[in-house]
Amino acid sequence: MKNLNISTKISVCSYEELNPGEKLLIDQAKEAALRAYAPYSGFHVGASVLLANNEIITGNNQENAAYPSGLCAERTALFYANSRFSDEAVVAVAVAAYTKDDFTDEPVTPCGACRQVILETQNRYKHPVRILLYGKKTVYLIEKISDLLPLSFDAESMTTE
Ligand code: THU
Repeated sequence: MKNLNISTKISVCSYEELNPGEKLLIDQAKEAALRAYAPYSGFHVGASVLLANNEIITGNNQENAAYPSGLCAERTALFYANSRFSDEAVVAVAVAAYTKDDFTDEPVTPCGACRQVILETQNRYKHPVRILLYGKKTVYLIEKISDLLPLSFDAESMTTE
């Protein structure tokens, strides 16, 4: 038996160390978090999506009394971006979360379903999706979704070769 060692690269920095474009994308995610509809969890998440045409689309979590009917911020933003600009590659996604009157100290990391959707988006546009995860104390920069979702299932997994 042998081991399969999978490594992931995540750059860790502070908001102040980001370049102006990165700060703008995160600022947009933070602003979107303030408009989230999260009366059940109180966890307000915002996501911003940078497209190849430099457009920034934002979204936030939308909850529902029938819990599974709600949707995370990342998928709200990505699906809207893809529906509005279906020919534009997604270049980057930023995420921020606000709870109990402040943004989280540590970065909020996307749920498994959102990681899967980011993977499909990356495959669809054949362009790596950079992921910026905001926390007041720490920011994570991730260059491609495989760093968050190794051994993923995608369309190619269904071929026999
Ligand atoms: N949520 C997001 O919108 N994105 C994440 O990355 C993590 C979780 C939402 C889903 C739900 O509305 C609330 O946060 C609590 O789980």
